[in-house]
Amino acid sequence: MAIDQSGVWRFRDLLPIVADDQIVTLREGNTPLYELPKCAAKLGLSFLLAKHQGMNPTGSFKDTGMTSALSVAASRGFEWVAVASTGNTSAAMAGYAARAGLKSMVLIPEGKIAWGKLSQSMDYGSVTVQLKTDFDGCVRVLNELVQRAPVYMLNSVNPYRLEGQKTPAFEILEQLDWRIPDHLIVPGGNLANCSALGKGFAELKHLGFIHRVPKISVIQAHGANPLFRAMQKDAGATLEPVVAETRASAIRIGNPASWRKAVRILAETGGWVEEVSEAEIALAKAEIGAEGIGCEPASAVTYAGLKKLVADGRVAPEERVVLLLTGHTLKDPEYTINYHRGELLTESELATAPAEERAAMKSL
Ligand code: F0G
Repeated sequence: MAIDQSGVWRFRDLLPIVADDQIVTLREGNTPLYELPKCAAKLGLSFLLAKHQGMNPTGSFKDTGMTSALSVAASRGFEWVAVASTGNTSAAMAGYAARAGLKSMVLIPEGKIAWGKLSQSMDYGSVTVQLKTDFDGCVRVLNELVQRAPVYMLNSVNPYRLEGQKTPAFEILEQLDWRIPDHLIVPGGNLANCSALGKGFAELKHLGFIHRVPKISVIQAHGANPLFRAMQKDAGATLEPVVAETRASAIRIGNPASWRKAVRILAETGGWVEEVSEAEIALAKAEIGAEGIGCEPASAVTYAGLKKLVADGRVAPEERVVLLLTGHTLKDPEYTINYHRGELLTESELATAPAEERAAMKSL
């Protein structure tokens, strides 16, 4: 049966209860944990791995949460499901809804999502609506919509999303023979994923499978850094929304819905929040590409942020680090091509990069 091949539903004892015949799966999960030897050597780390969630069926980590939440929607008899998205959630929802025979609608910011992602929701048959606003504006419209119509909302404020999205925490430990990493580094956008993974590790600790949890650190793009700012100012007691701007379009989010959960995960695990520049993201992405793995720009913030954590000693050379790569490199080929043609970054963005990084960019 397909559910026996799902890396998410392997853990069904820790997931929402849905009858087997109502589970909607594309055989997600069971993603690879790759070594990054060149990146590790560059940073002087002996242990650096990447959990590549871009290797899921629709090419991003969203599939693990979509299988759980969409199964709940189907089992509750909804006919319509909807999301606001920067592209990956919409691709995942469209795929899983099509699989379940549900109708779906995606609200996306016009001209601000990568083409690969836009094409997916169209390919899977979702009603694809581009709005002349940003992601945060799309969320506002969606909130209105679900109050007026019997539409099941599948954004990550839906708790069942986080249930599936916590399972990579279990997989990472399995893949490491239950030796707990010291650090897990994740990108931060709407800030649900760090919360989901934190929940996964906390549950395993609570159940007695592990005695401690990794430090979970969140990395944001400088132009979309509301959590970073909040933590600088008052340790995350309040979060001021920002007008977000970054080429890492997946995390171009100024008013993250799950920021309170993220603050709690940072405090509970002892992790940090960092921000990285456009030049740092671009170089980090190219370096992950040069490992023969690749990822989309939003995923590369993890490695860019790790460089900062290593530079000031927050991550020590002997510590064991896992990066969470959230999306496949083919999600946003335009970014990659522009970078390698030398057409991505502006002169002033390049000027912000340290000299040796600029040299590294030229050599790639
Ligand atoms: N990485 C990728 C590739 C993403 O698509 C997202 C979020 C994130 C990181 C950030 O995760 O929001 O849980 O902090 N994408 C959402 C979307 C917002 O609509 O696809 P987060």
